[in-house]
Amino acid sequence: MLSVLRAPIFAWLSLLMALWIIAPINAAFAEESKADKQVAAEVTQLAGADYWREVKSGVEGTTTSQWPEHNVLISVPGETWFILKEKWMSPAAAVAIFGSISMVVLMYWIVGPLKLSGERTGKKIMRWSRMDRALHWSMAFTFLTLAFSGLMLVYGKHFMKPYVPTELWGWTVYIAKQYHNYMGPLFFVLLILVLLKWWRKSIFNKTDVQWFMKLGGMVGKHKGTHPSADFSNGGEKALFWLLIVFGAIAAASGLILDFPIFGQTRRDMELSNLIHMFSALILICGFVFHIYIGLFGMEGALEGMVTGKVDETWAKEHHDKWYNEVKDNPDAAGSPEANKSQPDPSLTRHKEPS
Ligand code: HEM
Repeated sequence: MLSVLRAPIFAWLSLLMALWIIAPINAAFAEESKADKQVAAEVTQLAGADYWREVKSGVEGTTTSQWPEHNVLISVPGETWFILKEKWMSPAAAVAIFGSISMVVLMYWIVGPLKLSGERTGKKIMRWSRMDRALHWSMAFTFLTLAFSGLMLVYGKHFMKPYVPTELWGWTVYIAKQYHNYMGPLFFVLLILVLLKWWRKSIFNKTDVQWFMKLGGMVGKHKGTHPSADFSNGGEKALFWLLIVFGAIAAASGLILDFPIFGQTRRDMELSNLIHMFSALILICGFVFHIYIGLFGMEGALEGMVTGKVDETWAKEHHDKWYNEVKDNPDAAGSPEANKSQPDPSLTRHKEPS
């Protein structure tokens, strides 16, 4: 009999034991899930409008990170930067850039390119060494691609993003950002080389004052008067220093943005960003004029920067003081690389610009 009852009794006792063990665990779980639900409810309530209101008001939290401001999820003064950048700087920059482009188009249309007054003699004068040209075109390429990628980062969301597939936009802006970040430091290096190579011939003197007073002989009653100039005229010297000063500011602020590992705060980054945009804008507007003069505005200028040599008439008309210095000095140190690589009987070897 007992043996018959053994199995159910064992089963019953097992069940009781199981209940005895499971019940408190279950109760604990129930308690925990109740607590979880309560926390979740609180978080839900907190992560609602009130929560974000607090975060947006700049309230500080706690973090193990030691970096400045890492305990602030949303920085209130950042709003000021955002408004300055998006509502003021970006539209003003667009107006300035389109304004500069419109002005050179008008200049071409109304004033027209500056042609040589005399006939070309066919005699070539060395003006830019191979090193000068390599430096110039490297700088031009770096600057223009930086400008293009930078403008894409600022304005791409307006003129490209709404009209192309999201993936294409994503890749474009990603490539623009990476390119801009990596090429920036190269621009700084080239800027230092440009300064070292051309600073001497870019120092202003009285001749430049005269040149400015006659508006470079480019417009109005002065057009075609060919005011006196050294190797570089007043306009070129001004452009050179504009490049050096604003280029250095753009490069320095760019490096602060590129390497945020020196304890820069959000304020430092915001200020650097605005300064970077402003200096880049000045450079872009300035170089719209330079590129216009180089490509369309002055007959014979581009061939100098492409081949290294200019026609004697061009040298006489645009840089008479330099021409007078070098015309009778064929044995002075010329541009050795250029002379060696392109033996040209009509080439007059002259002193290389410093
Ligand atoms: C398509 C673009 C460009 C063209 C066609 C161009 C053309 C020229 C030409 C023809 C000259 C020689 C002028 C002369 O012999 O007196 C020159 C000089 C120069 N260019 Fe450019 N350029 C371009 C872009 C740039 C850019 C983007 C920069 C810098 C950001 C630059 C910086 C300079 C400098 C510093 C000089 C020397 C000016 C001096 O001090 O005499 N160029 N360029």
